Amino acid sequence: MLKKAVIFTSLFVLLFAVWTDKASDFIPAVIRQFFIQRSPAQPSPEVLLTLEELQLYNGKDRPELYLSILGEVFDVTKGAKHYGDGCQYNFFVGKDASRNFITGNFNDEDASDQVADLSHDKLLSLKQWKQFYRKHYTKVGKMR
Ligand code: HEM
Repeated sequence: MLKKAVIFTSLFVLLFAVWTDKASDFIPAVIRQFFIQRSPAQPSPEVLLTLEELQLYNGKDRPELYLSILGEVFDVTKGAKHYGDGCQYNFFVGKDASRNFITGNFNDEDASDQVADLSHDKLLSLKQWKQFYRKHYTKVGKMR
């Protein structure tokens, strides 16, 4: 009976220490890991990408397809039928071509992230595109 009580109390103390994040070195790493892996996922820190880094996420240099809109970077790999090599909207991959969402000009040499001179209406549609990406794709981070 006493043995059971000792085991129960030890287990309780152990669980309490892990759950309250007071797990110190006396708790073996394997036990801590067991509980940590089952705790809610922490938000991953936001990644900041330079244009050179973003350009690599083109499905070739890196397997993923990323695009940026208004400085927010999204992983559009799951939309490869639109953004993959040779597909209709591949133009947007690996760059921030925010302006081109409005102009509809998909020539590489005309890609631009300059939007300051757009009318309110156009800025609003651009914002709606950003909301579209927030809803349908995973945000990776921001342009540096
Ligand atoms: C400013 C002009 C345009 C822009 C910026 C644009 C942009 C886009 C983008 C980014 C997508 C992919 C959305 C996703 O990730 O699911 C898309 C899809 C599509 N677009 Fe456009 N588009 C334009 C004009 C047009 C026009 C004129 C047509 C038709 C003639 C068209 C037909 C389509 C179709 C059929 C889809 C696929 C929809 C689906 O499968 O869910 N787009 N468009």
